[in-house]
Amino acid sequence: MLPPIAGTIQELRAAVAEARRAGKKIGFVPTMGALHAGHASLLRASGVRCGFTVVSIFVNPTQFGPDEDLARYPRTLDSDREICGAVGADLLFVPTASEMYPHGFATSIDVRGLGDHLCGRSRPGHFAGVATIVAKLFNIVLPDVAFFGQKDAQQARIIGQMADDLDFPIEIEVIPTVREADGLAMSSRNRYLDPAQRRHAIVLQRSLEAVGLMVASGERDAHALEKFLAEEVASTPGAKLDYARIVDGLTLQPIGSIDRPSLAALAVFFGTTRLIDNAVLTP
Ligand code: PAJ
Repeated sequence: MLPPIAGTIQELRAAVAEARRAGKKIGFVPTMGALHAGHASLLRASGVRCGFTVVSIFVNPTQFGPDEDLARYPRTLDSDREICGAVGADLLFVPTASEMYPHGFATSIDVRGLGDHLCGRSRPGHFAGVATIVAKLFNIVLPDVAFFGQKDAQQARIIGQMADDLDFPIEIEVIPTVREADGLAMSSRNRYLDPAQRRHAIVLQRSLEAVGLMVASGERDAHALEKFLAEEVASTPGAKLDYARIVDGLTLQPIGSIDRPSLAALAVFFGTTRLIDNAVLTP
C-alpha cells in the first residue's frame, strides 16, 4: 500500500497525533529522497521498534554549498513512495522549501567542534544546515526514536550530540551501512558515476577494509594508515582524494595512535561526484 503524503506541518502533526493517541510508538527516518536499500534498512529498523514510521523527504537547500549538487540532486518521489510502501512506512512528510523556511527564518544550530574536521572542512556550513533542519523535523514529528545511517558517521555523531545538548526526548539509533554487492556504500550520488568511475569507486571500501585488517594485525600509527589510504586513492584512475583521516570515534578529532575506538573516514571525488565511507577501528 502506498503511504499517504503530508505536505504541510499542520497535516503531519495531525496524523502523528492520531497515531500517538492510538498508543503507537513513533519512529522517524529523515531523508532527502532518491531512496535506496540503505534508506530501506533504516525504515525496516523503525518498523521493528515502532508502530508508526514517518519518513521525511526534503532536499534541504541550506546543507548544500554554492558549488554543490542541489539543483541536480535526484528527485524520485514516485519510486520513493513505493519503497516506503514496500517496507511498511506509515506516512511521508514532503514539505516545500517555503514550508520549512518561511520568509524571515533566522536560526542556525552550530554543534561546535564535531563539525570542524572531515566533511565539515570540505563543506563549510553543511553541518549547521543539517543540524538545523533535523532539529526542526524533530520538533515537527516529535518521534520517540530517530534512525540515522553509519555511512554518514559524522552526521550521526553531530545529531546525537545535538539531541543530548538540547534535551530532545528522542533516542538516536545508528544503523550499519548497506552496500552494493561489490562493497560500495549505497548512496543517492552513486547514480552520477559513469561505468568506469563506478568500477573504481570500490577503492573506498577496499582500502578502508585493508586499514581495518592492518589495525587487527597490530598497526597503531594513524599517520601510516592515513598515508596508506591516500596512496590507494592516488593510484586509482579518476579518483581525487578529498580527505583520508583517522579520528577519535567520539570527538572526531585527529589522533596519532589507535589507542581507543576510532574511525577511519574517507572522502573521494570522481569528477564532480564526492563519495564518502568509513570504518570503525577498535584496537
Ligand atoms: P540522505 O542522504 O537521504 O540520508 C538519509 C539517511 O539515510 C541518513 O541517516 C544516512 O546516513 C542514511 N543512509 C544513506 N546511505 C546509507 C547506506 N548505504 N546505509 C545505511 N544508511 C544510509 O543524510 C541526509 O539525507 C540528510 O543530511 C538529512 C539527515 C535528511 C538532513 O537533511
